[in-house]
Amino acid sequence: MRILITTNYEEMSIEAAKIVAGQIYLKPASVLGLATGSTPLKMYENLIAVHKTIGLDFSQVTTFNLDEYIGLSADNPQSYHYFMYENFFKQINIRRENIFIPDGTAEDIFAESKNYDALIESKGGIDLQILGIGQNAHIGFNEPDIKFEATTHKVKLDDETISANSRFFKNVDEVPKFAISMGIKNIMLARRVVLLANGKNKAAAVYKALCGSVTPEAPASILQLHQDATFILDKEAAADLPQDLK
Ligand code: GLP
Repeated sequence: MRILITTNYEEMSIEAAKIVAGQIYLKPASVLGLATGSTPLKMYENLIAVHKTIGLDFSQVTTFNLDEYIGLSADNPQSYHYFMYENFFKQINIRRENIFIPDGTAEDIFAESKNYDALIESKGGIDLQILGIGQNAHIGFNEPDIKFEATTHKVKLDDETISANSRFFKNVDEVPKFAISMGIKNIMLARRVVLLANGKNKAAAVYKALCGSVTPEAPASILQLHQDATFILDKEAAADLPQDLK
């Protein structure tokens, strides 16, 4: 486990973009696992800038997003489909057919989940998985639970997550109550994982992930067992960590 503590959100985002860009330079046909939320936004901005200025080439890259709200169609501005196209995909030269995001409008979410797992496998697995972290230490939409869910699955969102994510909606009642998310095995099978966190509202979750017991009650804690995981934190998100980890 590597921990990189940066001075602020901007620096965290640059470090994350450097890792993604390096991955694509070394392996142009990389398979990336991508995250939504406010945390990776500036990392995406930096990658778009590298594409536009020095031609970072996404034409052979394949992406798998972690999750999607159930019931929101791709053209709904709150959907993760919409988020990814607006904030990233439309501004780089990735091929549409290489973009994969779980379909939250699928009639049979179980079949969609199986299909998503099979697609990841058929592309050779994920080379680099980018993660954010929820205030309750969720990754993707793997909420705290008494057990880890291995593969892509339907999730009932926690009240805490619904309230945290309501800032993107008109009001809390509009936040979907269910989502479809990659599971912990999908994430753990990624050859490399980079988790980003900034701000003091993430400090407790980061502490649980890095210093707590490995437990499904703090899903990000499983990353302690990953063979190649890096946490890139700003100072505020790292604030609760003991001195020897800083
Ligand atoms: C959502 C997403 C997660 C994300 C988390 C944190 O619930 N499903 O993948 O990491 O929120 O979001 P933010 O980066 O906005 O704090």
